[in-house]
Amino acid sequence: MFRARIIGTGSTTPKRILTNVDLEKIVDTSDEWITRRTGIKERRIAQKGAGENAFDLAADASLKALEMAKVSPDELDLIIVGTITPDRQFPAVACLVQNKINADNANAFDISAGCSGFLYALSIAENAIAVGSCKKALVIGAERLSSVANWQDRSTCVLLGDGAGVVVLSQADDDNGILSTHLGSDGRCWELLYSEEGNPDPPKILDAFEGKPYYLAMEGNKLFKKAVRHLADVATKALEHNNLSASDIKLVVPHQANIRIIQALAEKISIPMEKVYTNIHKYGNTSSASIPIALDEANREGLLKPGDIILLVTFGAGLTWGASVVRWSLDIF
Ligand code: COA
Repeated sequence: MFRARIIGTGSTTPKRILTNVDLEKIVDTSDEWITRRTGIKERRIAQKGAGENAFDLAADASLKALEMAKVSPDELDLIIVGTITPDRQFPAVACLVQNKINADNANAFDISAGCSGFLYALSIAENAIAVGSCKKALVIGAERLSSVANWQDRSTCVLLGDGAGVVVLSQADDDNGILSTHLGSDGRCWELLYSEEGNPDPPKILDAFEGKPYYLAMEGNKLFKKAVRHLADVATKALEHNNLSASDIKLVVPHQANIRIIQALAEKISIPMEKVYTNIHKYGNTSSASIPIALDEANREGLLKPGDIILLVTFGAGLTWGASVVRWSLDIF
């Protein structure tokens, strides 16, 4: 069995910034409410015709990650994209990325696991590397949640954003890398967060927005409680599995759904917020893309050093959840 290690990170978000003040013109809300209840100040929204499809964002982020990893696209064996907003029903976003970056030797496919898509994809790639069927993989989270937002529903549209994040995984030659990944699902609660038939007219302020014939529906209150419970449980399970305590963790990189969920998680697992990476104020909830975008930013900001223990933890529609413990081994400085 081989360990999988992260040797490159990358992320790309659309150029257009939609602030809370912009949203005040779309739905009955306020910057004060959104900031206080969610921690979000602004989000990025992909523009039609601007080369900002999910696969474009993913391909751009992939090239940045490959450059960091010093890996050429034709060395890749595997490309997996976690997404709930693929550009087309088929082919997979992963195949469109493969085509755009000329990764001609890779197998490419998507997986759908709500906001947990990135950790589910990471787990598949990690296992492929562990058994030796893959040496180098791209693991991507890429979303255009703006395309499934209901822009008439203030309780959901203010939360969502677009973007893509990527890691390059490689077979490790030592004991560093992904120590373990733990996943969970509960299909009984699928109705707390799902895609609904219908297509409300997008508001004029989003005139270049390309809607889809379904949109996101959510029971926020119930979901909030489930999120905190499952995040804390799976984080605890991951730490216990590796005989680690909260004080061993250098940085937690959680899914960015709501700052209050993140704070409640930190409290439950006894980790101070200084050790929790957040960028939700800039991007909102980008679903599968949120962890790899946050990981890339933390990495490029110099917050991760070889030997550091990092906890990635997520929760999303399905319900799904997951956590990975990583002993960091990448030094980009
Ligand atoms: N602006 C202003 N008021 C808003 C609003 C908005 N954008 N959205 C909701 N409200 C109102 C509600 O209508 C309600 O008003 P009422 O008391 O008059 O009925 C009030 O604010 C409180 O609503 P509530 O839903 O109880 O707020 P909340 O504190 O639970 O926050 C969420 C709502 C959605 C931010 C929160 O529940 C949440 O983050 N849930 C989990 C989301 C999540 O994790 N999603 C993805 C999982 S990956």
